[in-house]
Amino acid sequence: MLKRTHLCGSLRTSHVGQEVIVSGWVNTYRDQGKGLIFCDLRDREGLVQIVFNLEEVPEDVIAASRGLRREYVVSIRGLVRPRAGGANPKLATGEIEIVACEVELHNASEPPPISIDEYDAVKTNEEMRLRYRYIDLRRPRMQEILRTRSHITKLARDYFQANGFLEIETPLLIKTTPEGARDFIVPSRLHEGSWYALPQSPQLFKQILMVAGCDRYLQICKCLRDEDPRADRQAEFTQIDLEMSFVEREEVMEMMTGFVRLLWSELFKYDIGEVARITYADSMERYGIDRPDTRYGLEIRDVSSIAAKTEFAVFKDALALDRRGKPGVVKAIRVPAPCEKLTRKVLDGYSDFAKGFKAGGIPFTKLGANGFETGVAKFMEPVKAELIEALGLVQGDVVLFAADHWDIATKVLGELRQKVAQDLGIVPAGRWNFVWVVDFPMFEYDEEGKRWVALHHPFTSPNPGQFGILETDPGACLSAGYDLVLNGSEVAGGSIRIHNTHVQDRVFDLIGLSKEEAAMKFGFLLDALKYGAPPHGGIAFGLDRLVMHIVGTDNIRDVIAFPKTQSGMDLMIGAPGPADQSQLDEVHVKSTVEAPAIG
Ligand code: AMO
Repeated sequence: MLKRTHLCGSLRTSHVGQEVIVSGWVNTYRDQGKGLIFCDLRDREGLVQIVFNLEEVPEDVIAASRGLRREYVVSIRGLVRPRAGGANPKLATGEIEIVACEVELHNASEPPPISIDEYDAVKTNEEMRLRYRYIDLRRPRMQEILRTRSHITKLARDYFQANGFLEIETPLLIKTTPEGARDFIVPSRLHEGSWYALPQSPQLFKQILMVAGCDRYLQICKCLRDEDPRADRQAEFTQIDLEMSFVEREEVMEMMTGFVRLLWSELFKYDIGEVARITYADSMERYGIDRPDTRYGLEIRDVSSIAAKTEFAVFKDALALDRRGKPGVVKAIRVPAPCEKLTRKVLDGYSDFAKGFKAGGIPFTKLGANGFETGVAKFMEPVKAELIEALGLVQGDVVLFAADHWDIATKVLGELRQKVAQDLGIVPAGRWNFVWVVDFPMFEYDEEGKRWVALHHPFTSPNPGQFGILETDPGACLSAGYDLVLNGSEVAGGSIRIHNTHVQDRVFDLIGLSKEEAAMKFGFLLDALKYGAPPHGGIAFGLDRLVMHIVGTDNIRDVIAFPKTQSGMDLMIGAPGPADQSQLDEVHVKSTVEAPAIG
């Protein structure tokens, strides 16, 4: 076999005059006539142009070069020379070409079912791309993403190991984990009727590693959650998972800020600056969400006291609402002029959008030269001056209202704010706004289940100074949880953990987990806490989401080599698929449905 001397994409003018051997896939092939055949050869590093001068090469090379087709795999020996037909500025190797003198064909290829061309990829049906992923991954963009992902995990290992973190693997066949999603379960062959669960995260193991004295833990691990995939969510995804002993919240956040600072500096030569911090309460009030996108304004304001002075029935009804002692509210967003894009049709569409969040609609108005116009203008007349002052309105601004229970009004405006920003095209490109969100409530009240649920997982500690409140007013108790948000997406979440059995018991009790259930599910952790558990805390970065931001895609499937579809299928291997009856018998499982047809 011809022994490769250079990667295709690595050749430059400095190689002119050298004999080289390159190996790769035929990207394009053109028979120019006049005794010249051109081909672009592609490998992981890029493309290089090969010229076959048919008058100067032996018969076998002529025959081989004439037989080349797209995606054939070859090695080529030849001489590097300046490109005879003029440089191609679009290619990194565009100033040179290789004049071939020997060809070795390793393998032919059937005509590829999808194009490798980047432009065509945009138009190619994603199912086809996933089915023929080995061809799709040959595209330079996909190769670049895989390379960037590998670079990020290397930087993570280097940074955290340099800071004393040990890389430790935790098991995949375990018991239920408390991240709040559904478990994937695996039947046991050896223990009839028993099941393993796959980890939703290594949460409990990493805490136990702290009890075991490992001090600082790192793992780049697969997490499995049987939930519906979304644009930024897969059932099988990767975390950079971390835990530290003898630390408080500030030290964990500082260590993690250092990591993202390093990533952005290494990858973009970009200084992320000081990372802003916002409390959960503030984030909900101003952005209507616990992962605020702070790249643009459109902040939410509470205008309940002004709305109460109007005769608008929608406002009056909302303010009369009550949910467990919490009154209804009227909230507003000022959309700064120019708002030409917010036509009547668009604004009416916002009410339909709101209905998707159980809100009644989005009343609106606009400040014109002579006061409010359109929408609910006539009701705003009595409070005109107050509203203008409260929202800082100027002529041409549009005001969008939501009047409802606090949680509904907050949620709908939080979502609408993002939609309006998209509609107006005011989300700045090339900006990375990191925010730490802190001081989450320990618990959230589940209206349907009529019970408290842990907002992070139930191993999250109350903030220092909040332990008393845990006893007296759990709903008001703040946790030592923290999320790192980037441009409105949660890229990491973690907390200081409970390291005291009594506090852990109390939290289980509050979320309605009986002593028996707690012992059955997490007895090993409760036991471990009795044998010298140090104060500890940690976090997990969603690696896939980090890579999405870094390479600039909003589709999580782009950053995973072999992702699942929206319906959780791997189209390339055809999973999930039926199991043989004999396999089911071995694991003592009887299916209640007929196996689907294969294919
Ligand atoms: P959490 O559940 O918040 O915390 O997950 C941490 C981070 O993982 C990413 N993430 C996901 N990425 C893709 N697809 C998913 N389905 C998905 N779910 C989560 C997010 C998120 O911020 N054990 C805790 C961490 C800790 O407390 O240390 C945990 O798993 O970026």
